[in-house]
Amino acid sequence: MKLWVKIVLLNVVIVVSLGVLIGLTVRVVVTSSMRAELTKQGESIARNLSDRIADSILLDDFYKTQEAIEDVLGSEQDIEYIFVTNKKGYLFAHTFKNGYPTHILRWNPVIEGPLSIQLLDTEKGFIRDIGLKIFRGMNPELHIGLKENRISQTLNRVRNVIAVTTVIVILFGSVLSCFFSRFITKPLNRLVDFTRRLSRGEFGGKVNITSRDEVGELAETFNILSQELKLYRENIEKSYKQMLRTEKLTALGRLSAGLAHELRNPLTSIKVLFQAFKDSSGLTKEDMDVVLSEVNQMDEILTRFLRFAKGDEFNLSEVDINAIIKQLMHLTRFQIKDQSIRPVLELSELPLVRADRAMIEQALLNLVINAIEAMPHGGTLTFSSKADNDRVVISVKDTGRGITEGIKEKVFDPFFTTKNDGTGLGLSIVYNIIRLHSGDISFSSNGNETTFNIELPVNI
Ligand SMILES: Nc1ncnc2c1ncn2[C@@H]1O[C@H](COP(=O)(O)OP(=O)(O)OP(=O)(O)O)[C@@H](O)[C@H]1O
Ligand SMILES: [Mg+2]
Repeated sequence: MKLWVKIVLLNVVIVVSLGVLIGLTVRVVVTSSMRAELTKQGESIARNLSDRIADSILLDDFYKTQEAIEDVLGSEQDIEYIFVTNKKGYLFAHTFKNGYPTHILRWNPVIEGPLSIQLLDTEKGFIRDIGLKIFRGMNPELHIGLKENRISQTLNRVRNVIAVTTVIVILFGSVLSCFFSRFITKPLNRLVDFTRRLSRGEFGGKVNITSRDEVGELAETFNILSQELKLYRENIEKSYKQMLRTEKLTALGRLSAGLAHELRNPLTSIKVLFQAFKDSSGLTKEDMDVVLSEVNQMDEILTRFLRFAKGDEFNLSEVDINAIIKQLMHLTRFQIKDQSIRPVLELSELPLVRADRAMIEQALLNLVINAIEAMPHGGTLTFSSKADNDRVVISVKDTGRGITEGIKEKVFDPFFTTKNDGTGLGLSIVYNIIRLHSGDISFSSNGNETTFNIELPVNI
């Protein structure tokens, strides 16, 4: 639920609760004060009437009594009925038009003192019966029934006024709180957008909220956080690049034995030729061709070798993974041959992958070097590749010493190595490169077989 809806709802709840509370309070106050007033008024009417009819009662003068009570009934609008009992305690006169109700004398008998007030719940609503002894200690009683309609009518009016006021306040309050909540939520929304950008890794930006409230403070904190994250990432990238360079040099060092081996053959041919030239009269055109071709071969070997030494920026291009694999096998063929390793290529047709060529080359080279180093006494090195939906799966499998359970958790950690001359950076670099390409890397290994699997998305 949006914040502004919550604020409007809160406003409605507060106003309705206040309306109900005020209504209840007013009801109690109005009811009790009106009742008190009605009772006082009834008492005074009863006493006046009692004085007026006292003689008629003593003389048993029905007509005068009836006349007096009819008089009062006609002049007071809140009176429902009046009745009077005589000296013997029987009903003497009353104002009931259609005969008096049975048990009327039991409604509110005046037993103690000169006055008794009773609230009666009748068909005509609540009636307050005020009973009065006309003569102290004697039977004759005067009863006046006061209608309570006036109270309920007033209460209804009060309730209506409160209800209408509540509705007006709700409408007005909703419009106001809508306006204010938008005013509050606007900077909040901007802040939310900004944090979304941060979560997407767009560090270094700023959100422009200048208010001096909590939202302003939060925005300032986020701005600082954004700058710090940017710096932090720059530092990480810097040290990562350094790490990558170090690792590259290490990998090149490992390759240098093969390189030396590869350069020695053409050099030997040239050396033999020049030795022969020293003893004979001159070089023939064929001899020159041999020298040129050997020099070309050395040039090609060095060019290919140097490719790995260059480029540590993240340069995306369309990369042919199978071509890289073949090139790697070529580059390492002397180590492979020296250690009697059997190379196997199981390559399927692959789509071009959008990736940084140099990084992928380095990652696969690190895996191949690890595999070669795991098989000092020979074995099989299998490189396979296949397409799987919009991903490419590459596996490097060796039949070497395997990775033991105890170190499986650690092999991707930087600087973890079991080799005397290892840096322990190889696999951590591979891991980082693959994650940088939004890919996955995993491995499985039993006692004497290890397979590293890399999954790369065709498009990053
Ligand atoms: N194919 C494999 N077979 C057996 N063990 C392996 C294999 N690949 C990696 N390991 C183990 O994982 C450890 C870490 O490998 P990693 O490539 O990170 O470092 P390293 O090879 O020791 O050193 P370098 O930084 O020179 O590559 C290795 O020391 C080795 O014990
Ligand atoms: Mg290694």
